[in-house]
Amino acid sequence: MVNLYSDSVKYLSLIPLTIVFIILLIVLTKKRNRKQGIPQEVIEERIRNFQPKPLIDPDNIVNDNTLERLQPNESDPDCLNLVKVNYYCFLDNLDIRRSAETCIKKYGVGSCGPRGFYGTIDIHLLLEDRLAKFMQMEEAVLYSYGFSTIASAIGAYCKKSDYIFVDENISFCAKQGLLATKGREIYFKHNDVNDLEAKMHSISQLEDKDKNQKKKIFRKFIIIEGIYGATGQICPLPEILTLCKKYKVRIFIDETYSFGVLGTTGKGVTEHFGVDRSEVDMIMGSLEGALGSIGGFCVGASVIIEHQRLSGLGYCFSASLPPFLCQASLCALDKLEQCPEYISTLKDVSVSVNNALSNLKGYTILNSDISPVKVLTLSKSFSREERISNVNKIYTYCAQKGLYLDLVDMGLRLHCHMQMPDPAIDRIKDTLSDALKII
Ligand SMILES: *[C@@H]1O[C@H](CO)[C@@H](O)[C@H](O)[C@H]1NC(C)=O
Ligand SMILES: *[C@@H]1O[C@H](CO)[C@@H](O)[C@H](O)[C@H]1NC(C)=O
Repeated sequence: MVNLYSDSVKYLSLIPLTIVFIILLIVLTKKRNRKQGIPQEVIEERIRNFQPKPLIDPDNIVNDNTLERLQPNESDPDCLNLVKVNYYCFLDNLDIRRSAETCIKKYGVGSCGPRGFYGTIDIHLLLEDRLAKFMQMEEAVLYSYGFSTIASAIGAYCKKSDYIFVDENISFCAKQGLLATKGREIYFKHNDVNDLEAKMHSISQLEDKDKNQKKKIFRKFIIIEGIYGATGQICPLPEILTLCKKYKVRIFIDETYSFGVLGTTGKGVTEHFGVDRSEVDMIMGSLEGALGSIGGFCVGASVIIEHQRLSGLGYCFSASLPPFLCQASLCALDKLEQCPEYISTLKDVSVSVNNALSNLKGYTILNSDISPVKVLTLSKSFSREERISNVNKIYTYCAQKGLYLDLVDMGLRLHCHMQMPDPAIDRIKDTLSDALKII
């Protein structure tokens, strides 16, 4: 009796095994069949017809200005370097330098590994926590480089089937992120809410059509900058948010230039307009702007941010941020919180520079007045080649006089900082004015 019972159990346990075996057999034979399914001729033909395309379309390269940049000599007392982003002069701050040095003594210079493997040190967690608290959002994720923050974060969410609304003057790094996602980009005119609405409307009609045909629905994103690096203009966030709600679009804001700058306490463009930060899906920021360190971060709700720890390529596959740079950021953040008057001082300087530059004949200012990023173009209309050659001449003239400006697509860019004395502002104005005489 006992024997019979144990025998039947033995046989019973064989049944699931057999089933698994049969399923495996089916799957394996199917795979093999499919491999055999493509005839050799077809493969040969595909190889014959394959025409490798260049990774970058040579007709599409926009920046045709190849003028070599002159290197500022900062030990020269006459040198005025306005290429450098140093809003609160944290690059020259001794306290920050000392705290970074102390950190090197404790942790060494590098973390030597990606965050997910062996590159996470307590100070990374501390900084992430601090940034999330500062921005009053649930969670922050830290990247090792500002450029890759934007490029990776976009790639972590947007997929091939998604529609992505993008401002036509978005930063180069965001464009790289978009290139990697292969999503369907829809460019709208710079800061033009009407153009954006028209484009969102046409996509929503497309969506309705897809829904009727029971096709898979796609997602919609918009990517904007707080202050645009290309024009120095602040985005019209409240209007854009209204459109996002109306058309159900997720919004990502790149605050590379506006984090630590806009708003009374430096929380960026959301604080500047007094909008609720929870309405924004994700804010991407840089530690390289106002804080004068290196690296970048994204803040948002935990469910959104957590996703990047497995799918943000720059997070997963780069060595983590060196601990002393985390310390420098923490120290700079402390200073910014202790001295909110820094932020209003920078605003005052930015406005006075704007006033000085707006009196300049021959130039047009593109930026918003409180933005510390100033972008100047030539007022007179020139052909593209002529404009580039004239801007290059002005650039070289100013650099020879010790005034270093940044060359951008449309003209010249400069960054204000909070300790800019009036004589320096006059000097910028006079040099730019003199430069016009040589073209
Ligand atoms: C930079 O300027 C300093 C002070 O004028 C000068 O001594 C030095 O030679 C300059 N360096 C270069 C590389 O031109
Ligand atoms: C903004 O983008 C448009 C379209 O690509 C371009 O024509 C314009 O020159 C850009 N403006 C600046 C300041 O880069």
